[in-house]
Amino acid sequence: MRLKDKVALVTGASSGIGKAIATRFAAEGAHVVVNYRPGGKIDTDAAQAEVAAFGPRALAVAADVSKRDDVQRMMDQVISEFGRIDIAINNAGIEIKKPFLEVGDDEWNRVIGVNLFGSYVVSQICARQMVKQGDGGKLIFISSVHEDIPFPDYTAYCASKGGVRMMMRNLSIELAPYRINVNNIAPGAIATPINQAVLDDPTASKNAIGEIPWGRFGRPEEVAAVAAFLASEDADYVTGSTYYVDGGLTQQVTLY
Ligand SMILES: NC(=O)c1ccc[n+]([C@@H]2O[C@H](COP(=O)([O-])OP(=O)(O)OC[C@H]3O[C@@H](n4cnc5c(N)ncnc54)[C@H](O)[C@@H]3O)[C@@H](O)[C@H]2O)c1
Repeated sequence: MRLKDKVALVTGASSGIGKAIATRFAAEGAHVVVNYRPGGKIDTDAAQAEVAAFGPRALAVAADVSKRDDVQRMMDQVISEFGRIDIAINNAGIEIKKPFLEVGDDEWNRVIGVNLFGSYVVSQICARQMVKQGDGGKLIFISSVHEDIPFPDYTAYCASKGGVRMMMRNLSIELAPYRINVNNIAPGAIATPINQAVLDDPTASKNAIGEIPWGRFGRPEEVAAVAAFLASEDADYVTGSTYYVDGGLTQQVTLY
């Protein structure tokens, strides 16, 4: 039980990587705040089912991370339920595939709004609370290998994840005096709903796997395992780092 009695917020936790992190953290003894996007019936059902599985010290909160008022309301709920926050996982993310010449402002702003602004707002509100508590904390961003590697037709996504990379590096310096560790996890190709189109297309799947030295997609639980380490006391001297969970994809792609 690496996270016993820690209070952990996981954004976008009703599916994929976020759900795996929430489940792993609960197994490690943490009280988990399962954030999900408001409005989706499927999301709500999934989040409630997770909470039921975790037990009474879990909390499902609907909040759109791209809206400061929603995030502030969520944090108020967390404090009223648990009295503190120890760990924040910035996982909520979206991508829109579009050639750069055709991207509309609304699409650009939606991707940046969730992935970059959302990560900023959640981190700022959580970090302010952690500073007030006075005994440190952990901020973890689920960025992407595309914080570095170009991905044509996904310019807003790459810009958002590159921005998250630089935000993490800055915060690791600014928040070190408060003993708040700040790190990124950069997944490669993980089998989750965000990749459903590729997973459903045998040719696209084969091509994607062809670029991965490990020869398969990653599993959400493999990302959650690294998150559990970074959220634990074992990582107290780790800050300002990106951890790749990509089966060697980054090394393969940057070889040429
Ligand atoms: N799956 C991959 O291959 C992969 C690779 C690199 C990075 N990532 C990153 O991992 C994170 C999780 O993605 P995933 O693969 O689990 O896909 P996913 O689509 O299952 O998860 C994304 C989650 O974010 C939630 N979300 C979206 N907008 C939100 C908002 N405004 N407020 C709150 N929640 C919101 C969704 O409801 C969903 O639960 C994302 O940030 C994604 O960019 C995934």
